Amino acid sequence: MKKLFTLLLGVIAAVAANAVPDKMIRISTDNTDLIMHVVSNGRIYQTYYGERLDDPTALGYGSNHQEIYQGAGYDDYFEPALGIIHNDGLRCTILTYVSDEQRTIPGGTETIVRMKDEVYPVEVTLHYQAYTKENVIKAWSEIVHREKKPVTLFQFASAMLYFDKDRYFLTQYNGDWGTEGHTNTQELFFGKKIIDTKLGSRSAMYVSPYFELGLNRPATEQEGEMVLGTLGWTGNFRFCFEVDNNGVLRVVPGINPFTSDYELKPGEVFTTPEFIFTRSSHGEGEASRQIHRWARNWQVMDGRGDRMTLLNNWENTYFTFDELVLANCMREAKKLGVDLFLLDDGWFGNKHPRNNDRAGLGDWQAMEAKLPHGVPALVDSAKAAGVDFGIWIEPEMVNPKSELYEQHPDWVIQLPNRKTYYYRNQLVLDLCNPKVQDFVFSVPDQLLHENPEIKLFKWDCNSMISNAYSPYLREKQGNLYIDFTRGLYNVLQRLHKAHPDTHMMLCSGGGGRCDYEALKYFTEFWPSDNTDPVERIYMQWAYSHCFPSKVLCAHVTNWNSSTSVKFRVDVASMCKLGFDIGLKRISEQDRQFCHDAVENFNRLKPIILDGDQYRLVSPLESNHMSLMYVNPAQDKAVLFAYDIYPRYGENTQPVLLQGLDPNRTYRVVETNLLPGRKSGLSYNDRTYTGDYLMKVGLPILTSGRLVSRVLEITAE
Ligand code: DGJ
Repeated sequence: MKKLFTLLLGVIAAVAANAVPDKMIRISTDNTDLIMHVVSNGRIYQTYYGERLDDPTALGYGSNHQEIYQGAGYDDYFEPALGIIHNDGLRCTILTYVSDEQRTIPGGTETIVRMKDEVYPVEVTLHYQAYTKENVIKAWSEIVHREKKPVTLFQFASAMLYFDKDRYFLTQYNGDWGTEGHTNTQELFFGKKIIDTKLGSRSAMYVSPYFELGLNRPATEQEGEMVLGTLGWTGNFRFCFEVDNNGVLRVVPGINPFTSDYELKPGEVFTTPEFIFTRSSHGEGEASRQIHRWARNWQVMDGRGDRMTLLNNWENTYFTFDELVLANCMREAKKLGVDLFLLDDGWFGNKHPRNNDRAGLGDWQAMEAKLPHGVPALVDSAKAAGVDFGIWIEPEMVNPKSELYEQHPDWVIQLPNRKTYYYRNQLVLDLCNPKVQDFVFSVPDQLLHENPEIKLFKWDCNSMISNAYSPYLREKQGNLYIDFTRGLYNVLQRLHKAHPDTHMMLCSGGGGRCDYEALKYFTEFWPSDNTDPVERIYMQWAYSHCFPSKVLCAHVTNWNSSTSVKFRVDVASMCKLGFDIGLKRISEQDRQFCHDAVENFNRLKPIILDGDQYRLVSPLESNHMSLMYVNPAQDKAVLFAYDIYPRYGENTQPVLLQGLDPNRTYRVVETNLLPGRKSGLSYNDRTYTGDYLMKVGLPILTSGRLVSRVLEITAE
């Protein structure tokens, strides 16, 4: 009733302003429609976002509270998208329609809506790229003005979305170092809920830049109307969710305006990050599969390409190694059967050797004491061992104990008038400064010039921005967080252009960086330093809501070595498999097992890394976890099942599989078995129809503790 009344008021207000619907702008994918109407006073309203309509012409223009890019300071009393302090000191901006156009892009269409302010020379262009098959929309805006002097932006959302439902349930993914991906859902009521970060460089350390929104009720894996959203920004981001007096929810995603009043020069274009969202009528699983497919097809660096298995030396050697130790690691990598050996931190610095995290960062010359023949000799050793070579860098950072700091103290983000605060004994370089960008670019670029065979960089970032002052920006400190992130993108773009085939792992002391803008340049990311397989079950489950397995690095290590090596390997095999373990520390049988598991992974990775993922049993709702991947032809699937700490006498039910063809017959075979062991599963090597597997299911859960199994399911 209240909503009807509000709608009526909206209609009356619009009619009073002579604002009848004039023009419809329709952004469609296979299953969704996002629809806007321009009314005759020129303002543009969102009138629909939901399941695709057969006939949208009957749509009204909705409540006048749903302006697609709300300006601050006029007739709306909730969170705006855009806030500008104009040259005359006034803070009001109202945008009206100028034009719209639609063009074809790979995978879909792009709708471009141009708007302007009638009073000030301010123009805003909204972009919506709709990916037809994946039902994903990517939206961003461009803000430009021609006032005489710079204006100050105090709000600069990427887009706005509105929902008019009875109830809203927001799921967020937060944590800290080692506890990434904790999943929390809460109902939203009148007022604001903000998810944001103020960490700058290591921006996602406390919360990842994605959310889910259950509409009317919390979404489950297979049921419920919901939206999944994420922001492509490797810096301070913010999602603002505000429920207004009429129960309408607005979502305002974008760069966090916190301490970022941005000075924008006349003619300069302020481009916001991409807000990426997808909608599902059938729960979270469908939304995740849509975004996974989109990410692999259209966003992630080499998203359709292969990924390398690897052995990393960090947890095996830490800073203590030399050429002989590394050569041995490379031979172990070969024995394991992985593609690449990855040398981690500690290989550089001479005047200030990097033998711990207190010195050397910034001095990217091989440490003569450890590596007298430099990086080229390591590349040769890897070649001799028969594996590819990758190397760790952290080029945005500096230890005060380094030659770089001695030579360029003005290249560092640091306050001129206070005692410096250090996080991990290091400071952040001032990427707002083009000279610093050149330096950061030169680190991987020179390594590649001298060693073109380097196949992968692990690009780390262990500090957030503290002591927030850019010597380069001087009085324009409001631009710091934004220009820093743009400086990083300048470097990454240059690098990608110069070396388009080099794979890169994004790492930030664990999962402190994980977003879809960075993933245009990175093939994968490191979700957490915590590789305890039990913790990883929860984390990989959480990250899988927004990211495909292909970009999630999962390494077998000695964390929680009370679990079996098989359990650890099975957990890591559901994502991009790697190892960070000394092979001497495990038994011969386990070594053989790891080798066989790598072979299995190589055989199955087209399904695990490129197939559709179905989450079957949630670790958040049970003492188990299970998920499966199915290839597009539906003739091959891989299922992972883990029993964590089941209760004594727990009654486990058969698990219903998903994504198979009901009319085909599949053989179920257990794989990743310990050497010489046969499967004890009653259903091993038996055939079932897809219909049976999806309606009756298989008894894949057990009452065992910390046990796992991997099933290969093949159509006959
Ligand atoms: C933090 C990363 O998360 C680790 O994997 C490792 O690379 C260390 N940095 C090295 O300092």
